[in-house]
Amino acid sequence: MMRMTIDKTYVSKATDLALEPSQKAVKKARLNLFEEDGKRLENHGFAVLPQHVIERGLLKRIQAVADDLKTISDVVVLIGVGGSYAGAKAVLEATSPYFEKQGVEIVYAGHHLSSTYLSALRKYLQSKRYSIIVISKSGTTVEPAIAFDVLKKDLAQTVSKEALKKRIVAITDPKSGALRTQADQEGYQTFDVPEGVGGRYSVFSAVGLLPLAVGGVDIESLIDGAYQAQKAFLEDKDTVAHQYASLRHALYEQGKRMEIFAYYEPALHAFAEWLKQLFNESEGKDGKGIFMTSAAYTTDLHSIGQFIQDGPKDLFETMITFDHVEEDIPSGIYDTHSVDAVNRAAQNGVFEAHAAGQCPAIHIKLTRRDAYHIGYMMQTMMYACALSATALGVNPFDQPGVEAYKSAMRQHLK
Ligand code: PA5
Repeated sequence: MMRMTIDKTYVSKATDLALEPSQKAVKKARLNLFEEDGKRLENHGFAVLPQHVIERGLLKRIQAVADDLKTISDVVVLIGVGGSYAGAKAVLEATSPYFEKQGVEIVYAGHHLSSTYLSALRKYLQSKRYSIIVISKSGTTVEPAIAFDVLKKDLAQTVSKEALKKRIVAITDPKSGALRTQADQEGYQTFDVPEGVGGRYSVFSAVGLLPLAVGGVDIESLIDGAYQAQKAFLEDKDTVAHQYASLRHALYEQGKRMEIFAYYEPALHAFAEWLKQLFNESEGKDGKGIFMTSAAYTTDLHSIGQFIQDGPKDLFETMITFDHVEEDIPSGIYDTHSVDAVNRAAQNGVFEAHAAGQCPAIHIKLTRRDAYHIGYMMQTMMYACALSATALGVNPFDQPGVEAYKSAMRQHLK
C-alpha cells in the first residue's frame, strides 16, 4: 500500500537537476550513519524507536498513565521547549478535527519566557482541575524549569502531597539532570527520554506519546505508521526519505539555500513548526545548510507568494497534499466544482506558476490525514533529515550553535 510518495515533476519543470551525484552522496550518508545491513542503527536510537516502543510494551504503560491523568484533570499542562514539545503539538493539531474539542484540554508552557502568558495561564488554571507533564531531557533548560517551578508551586497549594504525585509526570534523562533528581526526590511518576535519542528525534518516545495519549490521539496507529516507515527504510534502499534527501542535496548544490514547506491544510501549522526545528537545528552548521521555512496555502499566496514567484531564485518549495479529503462541499460560485476541487486547482496552478518562476517544487503526497499517516511521515522525515545533513557533511544530532545565546544570556543574569 502506498502511504507516502514523492513526485519531482515540478522540480524538473523548473530546473535541470543533476540528481545522480546527490543520490550517491545520500547513499554514502546512509552507509556512514546506519551501515548497509542496519547493524549500527542502535547508534541512533530514533531510527529504531518505533520498534523498541512496540517490543518493550511501552504503549500500554503510557496509555494507563494517560487515562489516569484524563480522569483527574480538565486540563493538562505540557511543559517543554523545542524537541520536548513540538512533536506532540504537531501530531495533536494535525490529527484533530477542526472546531471539535476532544477529551482533555492540552495547554502549553515553558516554550518561551513571556511573563504575561505565564501569569494568564496561572489565572486560567485557577478554576480548573489540572495536571502537569514536564519534559526536559537535560533537566536544566531555563524556559521549562521556570514554568514548572511556578505551576508546580501553584498546584501544591491546592492538592495534597500524595495527589501532587499523581498529577505530575516528568519525562527526562533516565539517570542524570536536575529534573530527574527532583522527580526521584519528590516521588513524581516518570518516563525516560531514551538514551541516544535527541530531543527533536524523540516524538515516538514517551516525550510525544504521553501527551498525545492524553489528548485523545490513537497512539497505536501513530506508532504503527512510524514502524511501517522504519521497515520501509530498513528494507528498501530507495524510500521517500532517500529521494527527498537526494533532491534537497541536488538543489543545494545548484545554489538553492531556502526551502519553503508549503501545506494546504491549516491543521499542519504545528507540523511545519516541528519540521522547521528538525531540519534547521540538525542541518544549519559549519556555514552550511538549507534554511527551512513554511507557508500556509492558499493564505500565504496572497502575501509571500509574490516573493516566491518574482523574488530571488535561491529557494524551492516542498509541498504536501493529501489524496483523501475528509469532507467536501459545493463551492457555490462554481457550478461544477466543489471547494476541494477549487483547492486542487489552486495546487496545480501553484505548481505551474512557480515552476515558470524558476521555483522548483518537490511534491509529497500522503494518503490521508490521520495518526497512522502522520506517524509514517514523521519517521520518514527524521530519516530524510539525518541523511540530508550527513550528505552535507554536518552532524545531524548536535546543536552547538544553540549554546551561544544561552551563555550570553547567563552573562546578563549575573
Ligand atoms: O532537539 C533538541 O535537542 C532541542 O530542541 C531540545 O529538545 C530543546 O532544547 C529542549 O531541551 P531539553 O529537553 O533538554 O529541555
